[in-house]
Amino acid sequence: MGCFWCTGNSRQRSKKLTNKNDDSSYQRKLHDLMKDSSVALKKGSAYESAKKEEVAKNDQLSLDVKNLNLNDEVSKDGKDSKLAQSFTFAELAAATGNFRSDCFLGEGGFGKVYKGFLEKTNQDVAIKQLDLNGLQGIREFVVEILTLSMAKHPNLVKLIGFCAEDEQRLLVYEYMSLGSLENHLHELPPGRKPLDWNTRMKIAAGAARGLEYLHDKMKPPVIYRDLKCSNILLGEGYHPKLSDFGLAKVGPIGDKTHVSTRVMGTYGYCAPDYAMTGQLTFKSDIYSFGVVFLELITGRKAIDNTRDHSEQNLVAWARPMFKDRRNFSQMVDPLLQGQYPVRGLYQALAIAAMCVQEQPNMRPAISDVVLALNYLSSQKYDPNKSVHTSRRNMASSAVNRNIVADHEHNGH
Ligand SMILES: Nc1ncnc2c1ncn2[C@@H]1O[C@H](COP(=O)(O)OP(=O)(O)OP(=O)(O)O)[C@@H](O)[C@H]1O
Ligand SMILES: [Mg+2]
Repeated sequence: MGCFWCTGNSRQRSKKLTNKNDDSSYQRKLHDLMKDSSVALKKGSAYESAKKEEVAKNDQLSLDVKNLNLNDEVSKDGKDSKLAQSFTFAELAAATGNFRSDCFLGEGGFGKVYKGFLEKTNQDVAIKQLDLNGLQGIREFVVEILTLSMAKHPNLVKLIGFCAEDEQRLLVYEYMSLGSLENHLHELPPGRKPLDWNTRMKIAAGAARGLEYLHDKMKPPVIYRDLKCSNILLGEGYHPKLSDFGLAKVGPIGDKTHVSTRVMGTYGYCAPDYAMTGQLTFKSDIYSFGVVFLELITGRKAIDNTRDHSEQNLVAWARPMFKDRRNFSQMVDPLLQGQYPVRGLYQALAIAAMCVQEQPNMRPAISDVVLALNYLSSQKYDPNKSVHTSRRNMASSAVNRNIVADHEHNGH
């Protein structure tokens, strides 16, 4: 767990704070910054009006950033890897050959992403440049820095630093050499091999562990709110890490069950209860996780407008299919070419079905999902062997039994 320097307000000098269980002013600052939200569903109908609101709020947010005095509070020498470093714009321009087009990695709501190389630490990085005319703003920038500075887990992407010079806002991350899960599932270039079953289960288990860290280990706990394939980045050996914490929000504390917000997230991944009521719970993330897991199993997109109307929404298509195991073999990604364990597929679909249940309280807690997926990913499928999981192994996994039993009990 990292530590971070910050000011109580613009006039006070900094105080060193650690990420312990106490309610430090650092945590309060994170809580305050994250408790308000102002944009609607990306690609959703209220998007444009939300943009106007966001612009107005940015004035206050600029002040928030100034008050945080980020540039004074972080490591400038780059030696202490626990701290986010502050970079000058010139350093980041040099790292990307002046944001050369051949360094361009992709673009999202925040802005363009470039591959860069930092001479001083001899390190490849990904540099995200805030689009000053874009739909996301300084709030996302600040929340991203604060969340990732507090968080440290092998399944969360590492924030190396940032630049907040004049109008410019850039974020510097560890470079994830295999790109995003979206690239591998839905944007596979011709001739590239699709992900195999074992790799898919490994990615799901790692992403679930990252989410478990946010929900159960962080103080205060954090609701991620933007879990989707493009935010799961892959490193060497397809090691998955969650990225993009600009929408993250401090979860309900004490006996509260939800936090009330304006609805944010990405269409197709957003839990129906959250979309309808604006009440955000940890179970909203579980729903989004279920959608991602379904994408991994089926190879289909959360929303695919190129398909027949009844198949455009992945969850709406899958829900009736969950009811009969005889459908399961039709649900699996055809790109796997039959190379998957039948029992493993049943279990994976049972877990996915639990996660995307309509009623949030019927969805499992992330700790149960992690237990089930750790087990599932440990059962390596070998296409050369006919029996892939012994019954004894199955019996040893209580959680898997419970999840499958619950699923069957619920009439699926
Ligand atoms: N740390 C990184 N290492 C390598 N590639 C990255 C990294 N971060 C982002 N990318 C690439 O840049 C692309 C754009 O990322 P970005 O997070 O800005 O947008 P997005 O996830 O597609 O959309 P959204 O803004 O909704 O999150 C990603 O799909 C990925 O290919
Ligand atoms: Mg992203």
